[in-house]
Amino acid sequence: MHIDIQFVPSPPQPNFLSKRVAVVIDVLRATSTMVQAMSQGALEIIPVATVEEAFQMAKVFPRNSIILGGERESKKIQGFDLGNSPKEYVMEKVKGKKLILTTTNGTKAFHLVSSGKEILVGSFFNIGAVAKRCIELDRDLLIFPSGDERNFSLEDTVCGGMLIQLITKKGKNPIVLTDASQCAQILYQRFETNVLEAFHLSSHGKELIKRGFEDDLVYCAQVNMTNMVPQCKGGVIRVPLT
Ligand code: MLT
Repeated sequence: MHIDIQFVPSPPQPNFLSKRVAVVIDVLRATSTMVQAMSQGALEIIPVATVEEAFQMAKVFPRNSIILGGERESKKIQGFDLGNSPKEYVMEKVKGKKLILTTTNGTKAFHLVSSGKEILVGSFFNIGAVAKRCIELDRDLLIFPSGDERNFSLEDTVCGGMLIQLITKKGKNPIVLTDASQCAQILYQRFETNVLEAFHLSSHGKELIKRGFEDDLVYCAQVNMTNMVPQCKGGVIRVPLT
């Protein structure tokens, strides 16, 4: 297995992903919110790029069957049901609902990797299960941190580095790491005992604190809360039946 990680969220070369697994990571906070929503019984998630698209998509379904969620500048969008704090996505609100989600970077990343053979949703919440799934799939892998307004993001790369470390330790077949993957793994090792420290150092972490969401940093730093590995197929995220 060949493992690569992309440090900035630019679209991969055409065909690059056609035989590869892509793992999208936006720990602060979009993919954490997705994993949380699915673990609380959401039916499926439709990640859309813009607020307009979210409102348009909402019109297609009965209003009581959907939840409109997401953020701009980290805040809940006017007219939406929920923001982008994973903690908001509790069973009473999301069970049996279709979540239409739009966030600044995270939901867009799914569109950038839409040509992936398999597209998995990764976060610290489900990182062990994602590693296990990648080993089972045994395909070349592109880890895709969704970044911060098209820039490198420390927290997503640390999470990607943890994924690389888990696969490297548990995978049976030979694993080849690119220089970028080695870098991400070394970065993870720096924060291994305290990923929250990486959140505090990151520019998006600092922004979230400034905007009143410090609790979300602590929440999103929880590791292995669930075994669910949501997967995006045809633009819809679901947990595949095993
Ligand atoms: C994003 O997609 O950029 C985010 O998850 C931002 C946030 O929730 O603050």
